[in-house]
Amino acid sequence: MSKIVVEKSPPLKGTVRVSGAKNSALPILAASLLGTEDIVLEDVPNLKDVDVFCEVLSLLGAKVNRYDGGKIVINSANIDKYENPYELMSKMRASFLVMGPLLARLKHAKTSMPGGCAIGTRPIDLHLKGFKALGADIDVEHGYVGASAEKLVGDRIYLDFPSVGATENIMMAAALAEGETVLDNAAMEPEIVDLANFLSKMGADIKGAGTSSIRIRGVEKLGGAVHSVIPDRIEAGTYMVASAITGGDIIIENVIPSHIKPAIAKLRETGCEIWENGDKIRVIGNKQLKPIDIKTLPYPGFPTDLQAQFMALMTVTEGTSVIIETVFENRFMHVDELKRMGANIKIDGRSAIVQGVETLASAPVKATDLRAGAALILAGLVADGNTVIDNIYHIDRGYDGIEKKLATLGAKISRIE
Ligand code: EPU
Repeated sequence: MSKIVVEKSPPLKGTVRVSGAKNSALPILAASLLGTEDIVLEDVPNLKDVDVFCEVLSLLGAKVNRYDGGKIVINSANIDKYENPYELMSKMRASFLVMGPLLARLKHAKTSMPGGCAIGTRPIDLHLKGFKALGADIDVEHGYVGASAEKLVGDRIYLDFPSVGATENIMMAAALAEGETVLDNAAMEPEIVDLANFLSKMGADIKGAGTSSIRIRGVEKLGGAVHSVIPDRIEAGTYMVASAITGGDIIIENVIPSHIKPAIAKLRETGCEIWENGDKIRVIGNKQLKPIDIKTLPYPGFPTDLQAQFMALMTVTEGTSVIIETVFENRFMHVDELKRMGANIKIDGRSAIVQGVETLASAPVKATDLRAGAALILAGLVADGNTVIDNIYHIDRGYDGIEKKLATLGAKISRIE
C-alpha cells in the first residue's frame, strides 16, 4: 500500500496549475449518458474517481476512450444496461449520479443503495423526491434502489436543502422529461453551472443555473458536445493554504477567482496577501498569521470541502479559531489525526475550537477521507520530522498529482510503496 511522506518544508515558491474540477467532471461524465452522439471532454482530471466513473459508463454500454492530457471521448448511443452494481457504487458514491440520466434515457435505473461514509450518513431522499415528482416509481429492495417510469413529466420541485447531487440528478432527468421542471432551493455551486452549460451544448433547455431556481424545459433528444471542465476551486484553495501555512509565495494558475471568494477572504483575514490577475492568483504567506472563524455553508458560503485544510492552517496559527461545519454532520474525522501531530482541537457538536500551537510534530497518520488527507499533507509541511500518511487512496480519488505539484513548489514530499 502506497504512503505519502511529508518532511518539514521551506516556504513554497513557484507556479502550480490547477486541474479540471473533480466535482464537475463526475456529473458531466454521468450526463454523457443522456446523449446519442460523441461527447468530447477536455481538462478532465486524472483521478481514481474518474477511472471508476469511466468503468461505470463502459459497464452501462457506453464507448469510452481516454487520451493523454485529460481528453475523454464518450459515445452513449447504444447504452443498454441500467444497473450500477454494488462493486462500483461502493468504490464511489458519486456514481449515484447515473440514476437521473439512466431514468431519462432508458426509463429504468437501478443502483446499489449508497451507504454512509466517513463524513456522514449522506441520505438520497432529495434525489428520490425529485424522481418521484417527475413521475417515477421508486423501489428499494435488497440494498438496491430502483426508479422506473413510463414517461417523465416536468413538475415544480422544492429541495429541502440545496443538495449538489440532488440538483444535478434532477436536472439531468428533467432534461429529457416532457414539459417544464422548476427546481427551487437548488444548489448554486459553480459545478452546477458547468453541468448546465454542458447539457445546453448537448441541446438541453436550462435557465437559471447558478441561482436557487432552475428551469428546465425537457427536449426529445440530446446530442453531442465538446466541453472543457472548469478548474477545481477546491484544489486551488488547497494550494492557497499550502502557501499560507509555509509562509510561501506562489502563483496558482487556471483558477476562477470568483469561485473561491470565501477562501480568498478568509486567507486575507489571516493576514496573507492575495493578488488576483485573470485566471491566476498569487498567495503570499505571512509569518504572523491571525486566527479566524469559519462556518461552512452551501455555495456561495465557505465550502465544506476546504474546512479540513483551513483547520490544518489554524492548528499552527497563534490564538483561538472556531470552525463550524453545517453541511455534513460528521466531517471532523481529521481532528483526531491532527491531534496525533500535536494540534490542540476540541469538538463540541458541529463546532471545532482550535487553539494554535507553536509547532506540530510528525506522526504516522491516516487519511480518513479526501479532504482530511489534504489537511494532513498541509500539516506535514510544517510539522517537525517526517509525517507518514496512510490510506492515501482517498487523496488519489480527488487530487491530480498532488505530491508532484507540491514538490515543484519546493515541498519535501514523496510517495513510497
Ligand atoms: N443531503 C440530504 N439528502 C439528499 C442529499 C443530500 O439530506 O438527498 C444532505 C447530505 O447528507 C449533506 C448535505 O445534504 O448533509 C449536502 O450534500 P450534497 O448532496 O450537497 O453533497 P453531494 O452532492 O453528496 C457534493 C460533492 C462533495 C461536497 C458536497 C457539498 C460531488 C461528487 N461531491 O456531494 O464533495 O462536499 O457536494 O458541497 O460533487 C469532496 O469533493 O471531497 C466532496 C465530498
